[in-house]
Amino acid sequence: MTGALPAECDRILVPEDVLQLRVSELGREIAHDFAGEDLRMITVLKGGLFFLADLSRACDAPLAVDFMAVSQYTPGAGGTVRVTKDLSDDITGASVVLVEDIVDTGLTVHYVLSLLRAHDPAKLVVCTLLDKPSRRIADVPIAYTGFAMPDKFLVGYGLDLSGRYRNLPFVASLRDEAILS
Ligand code: IMP
Repeated sequence: MTGALPAECDRILVPEDVLQLRVSELGREIAHDFAGEDLRMITVLKGGLFFLADLSRACDAPLAVDFMAVSQYTPGAGGTVRVTKDLSDDITGASVVLVEDIVDTGLTVHYVLSLLRAHDPAKLVVCTLLDKPSRRIADVPIAYTGFAMPDKFLVGYGLDLSGRYRNLPFVASLRDEAILS
């Protein structure tokens, strides 16, 4: 998809060139920090797919990628998630970077980290492209952050509204009317 702003969007918050530059920086940083280790990049489908694809290619180090999928459900008041697709590879003793599109309340990452920890990796850190710190409920450790974002509903570069807009090359905020409709 090219760079036109869809009518439902309000404005571009992270332009494509700024985004790609930051992804390259993060890739270089991770390659440096995990040099010589059994590096795995794991993401949660579907939103993290786009970031993982670019981040892994910006990381000049041998690594393997793997995927999980989780569904959100909210029994009672607390948000919680369940696994719908588990990892393909064993991560015991590996250095794992959990690659996320966005950390919002932190509940998803908190849950996924607890699942990954149970496999006994040597290292486990989080790299998120976007962070909405003002919305945090679960206190999760984040080793690498692309951009801190305001409390707005965002689309693009993996983030969707009802499945759409993931393929936008930038991150944009949605118009309030689009969220409500
Ligand atoms: P959490 O609230 O940190 O558990 O985030 C759960 C998931 O909600 C994220 O992985 C995204 O898929 C989704 N999400 C959170 N904020 C946004 C947003 O602004 N736009 C689109 N999806 C979002």
